[in-house]
Amino acid sequence: MSLFNLDLEEAKARHAKLSKEIKEHDALYYQEDAPKVSDAEYDKLRQEIETLEEKYPELKTVDSPTQTVGAAPSKGFSKVTHALPMLSLGNAFSDEDVQDFIDRVKRFLGTEEPIEFLGEQKIDGLSCSLRYEHGKLVQAATRGDGSVGENITANISTINSIPKELPKDAPDIVEVRGEVYMAKSDFETLNKTRAENEEAVFANPRNAAAGSLRQLDPSVTAKRTLKMFGYALGEMSTPIADTQEGIRAVLSKWGFDVPEPSVVTDNLDGLIAYYKKIEELRPSLEYDIDGIVYKVNDLALQERLGQVSRAPRWATAHKFPAEKAVTVVEGIDIQVGRTGALTPVARLTPVNVGGVMVSNATLHNEDEIKRKDVRVGDTVKIQRAGDVIPQVLEVLKDKRPKGSVEFTMPDTCPECGSLAIREGDDVVKRCTGGLICPAQMVERLKHFVSKNAFDIDGMGDKVVRQFFEDGWIKSPADIFKIEKNHGEELKQKEGWGDLSAQNLFDAINKKRVIGLDRFIYALGIRQIGQATAKRLAQVYGNLEKLKTAMVKAQDHESESYGDLINIEDIGPAVADDLIGFFAEEHNIDVLDSLLNELKIEDYVDNRQSDTAVSGKTVVFTGTLETLSRAEAKAQAERLGAKVSGSVSKKTDYVVAGADAGSKLKKATELGVTVLSEEEWKDLIA
Ligand code: IVH
Repeated sequence: MSLFNLDLEEAKARHAKLSKEIKEHDALYYQEDAPKVSDAEYDKLRQEIETLEEKYPELKTVDSPTQTVGAAPSKGFSKVTHALPMLSLGNAFSDEDVQDFIDRVKRFLGTEEPIEFLGEQKIDGLSCSLRYEHGKLVQAATRGDGSVGENITANISTINSIPKELPKDAPDIVEVRGEVYMAKSDFETLNKTRAENEEAVFANPRNAAAGSLRQLDPSVTAKRTLKMFGYALGEMSTPIADTQEGIRAVLSKWGFDVPEPSVVTDNLDGLIAYYKKIEELRPSLEYDIDGIVYKVNDLALQERLGQVSRAPRWATAHKFPAEKAVTVVEGIDIQVGRTGALTPVARLTPVNVGGVMVSNATLHNEDEIKRKDVRVGDTVKIQRAGDVIPQVLEVLKDKRPKGSVEFTMPDTCPECGSLAIREGDDVVKRCTGGLICPAQMVERLKHFVSKNAFDIDGMGDKVVRQFFEDGWIKSPADIFKIEKNHGEELKQKEGWGDLSAQNLFDAINKKRVIGLDRFIYALGIRQIGQATAKRLAQVYGNLEKLKTAMVKAQDHESESYGDLINIEDIGPAVADDLIGFFAEEHNIDVLDSLLNELKIEDYVDNRQSDTAVSGKTVVFTGTLETLSRAEAKAQAERLGAKVSGSVSKKTDYVVAGADAGSKLKKATELGVTVLSEEEWKDLIA
């Protein structure tokens, strides 16, 4: 009988039988390394199941063999754009920081009333987002850069504790976010086996979980015991709860693990008591945690609070104190960064700090090294907190060897010999060599190709350095000319070959079209991180506008300057670095040569573009009654408006609260539409 004559029931039965057979063959092939059928026979089974799924797409579930093992492993993971961005969390390190967080929340909401918070353990694993459609798990993705992650559906479907189906009453679209981790005991077992097999052991459960989840062959993931805790939601077609506590309850009902215990309280003491309790429990937990997350319990309030750059205003992470260890300083090196900063780094006798081997620690800057009086040969106490670079805390002076000498920062750059100076009250000594300093050039190039910038596969630090030393790349645009100018040489180069060279060229060519936000970040302008780059892209839309505005903003009295410092996260110091960058002729040359090689895509704002105020420029003035200024601004921006600090002809609306002064007057003079708070609310309703 032809496959096409099967009805759904028959197709289902056939599909189930085929799935089972294919999975058995997969197991034999991948796990036992002992296939029982020829490749051709195996391919026939796969073809049949694919044909069935073409006819009945509902059979294409995540546990179908078409979705799991067998996916071509060498291609890496495909990319997934998150329906809602996956955010990170701001940090609190002390009780005062937590109080500040509570105060910020209240100030933003403009209330003095107590606010309920949920306290929950912060799991030290890998965040991931699971998407269910019509009750079926259809996709799993890593966080990636928060907007785009990697498709790890096949690997996630090997994790037993994750529900593959949701109950019938679940909404059509559900995204569950949580942390994938490896239990401490499973980690011990895994490492023991690896040691016996003379394989490299993992430093800690988090690394083991990451290594296991990022396996291209899901059958390897399947053999590692991973688990997951659910703690938040992404896109939902219908809401399922009013509170964070309610979300936990539903997740748990659906079969997800949620970390226990949690707490709900409306005051600092309650949160701190919970923190202390969990800190005590920490060693006895089956998994690693690195702090507590506090979240505003009421989801309607969360919505109002929104986010600032990449973290929600409604949550923060209260970190546990860093892990500490004692070791010896074997040397002090000076590293020269992308912006010329000279950073002293202690080379240490390697030591295990809370599960991670540490052999370098930062000594920050000249003042710090002097204050702590760190010398070569000293025994020091170091600490490591999360992903932060380890730091030297103090010198154990009684262990200091005789005849040690005080460390002095060099007056010249160790890389290019240029003068190194401290400007104004900058604590950082910087090389004045600019682009003649090879260290700065290499660091800029490394930054340019790095993950959050151009993200060029196969161009790691070593390759960048090698190409730089060979004189192939001096400025970023040269990267795009390697194929043309040095293609044949590269193929002949030791350690390379036709294939690897071609892979690199392909990876480079893939990045000839790039988003404006990434491009701005890649330029490596001092103080312009990812979040600020994205803001700039949002505000200016394309490179030409940004360039023009930065040239105009050289005049601090100009409207362009006013607009610039009104952007969130941009104060006068950041503004100066930005303006300074665009004022340098050689930077403009770098931009121009890049533009010959690249297409920079205008920023596509994925905030709402079809609201009454999208694209409009709004100025808030006076005291608003029902909204704090920050909330009004955030809300307007969320709806696609641009909020400006000064009134001009280009202003579309001035929203005037009580006691509005000169801005209101100017608006009237210029004939700009003035709205009351009520009218504004009607407009955006
Ligand atoms: S809530 C940020 N709850 O920590 C959006 N996050 O360092 C809401 N994390 O990106 C997150 N345990 O992946 C939340 N109980 C918990 C968590 C948790 C771990 C992760 C999360 C976040 C990261 C920030």
